[in-house]
Amino acid sequence: MKLALISDIHSNLESLQAVLEDAHQQGITDVYCLGDVVGYGPNPRECIDLVMKCRVCLLGNHDQGALFDPEGFNSGAERAIFWTRAQLEQAGGDASEQHRRWDFLGELPRNHQDGNMLFVHGSARNPLNEYVFPEDIYNKRKLEKIFALIQQHVFQGHTHVPGVFTESFNFLSPDEIDYQYRLGNEKTMINVGSVGQPRDGDPRSCYVVIEDDLVTFRRVEYPLEETIKKIYDVPELDNFLGDRLRDGR
Ligand SMILES: [Fe+2]
Repeated sequence: MKLALISDIHSNLESLQAVLEDAHQQGITDVYCLGDVVGYGPNPRECIDLVMKCRVCLLGNHDQGALFDPEGFNSGAERAIFWTRAQLEQAGGDASEQHRRWDFLGELPRNHQDGNMLFVHGSARNPLNEYVFPEDIYNKRKLEKIFALIQQHVFQGHTHVPGVFTESFNFLSPDEIDYQYRLGNEKTMINVGSVGQPRDGDPRSCYVVIEDDLVTFRRVEYPLEETIKKIYDVPELDNFLGDRLRDGR
């Protein structure tokens, strides 16, 4: 079994293409997407069209925001969501393509289970909206409650910060573990990071490859200045959404 896990693409086409190419070069054909295909970035339609080819795709909170009324987003994110919705509704495009994209988003599930592995966008407790941040290792009650719901291993996104949470309240960032983690008997939550808007200080796209019990974090360079220029060119998308791509913040 060799599987690529991608998440939080956020309409960043250049990063998605780079990651899919990197996975393809490793002979990976099975890709799971853990949500937030859209929001923030300039290419929602193109990213949806690529992600439709994934074997599994889950609903993220930004995807849900584009489908329904966005709730709980800051003003920049909310503006990006309304702009995204307009792109998906844009008249003049191919109507059947538009319907295909809306149907795809509207039917995305909130979780997926394969044996002892659960896949969600946020957390096992709240698949759509709960953040599990590295500093939550100091919030033992929170982690205990979430781990109690976990059979063995959970793969998630949402925070854009990759790494491994263990049941013994450790957080291991990819660079601390040489980008590899072997799944064992201990329960784990693994954040696969973000393809289109990394926030761990490394601007390269992040995704995860699972091969049997070995989890590998991959970092992939992409032409981020192209994405940034496209963001600058859309008045509804804050320039900050481009600038942050350079710093991976
Ligand atoms: Fe996200």
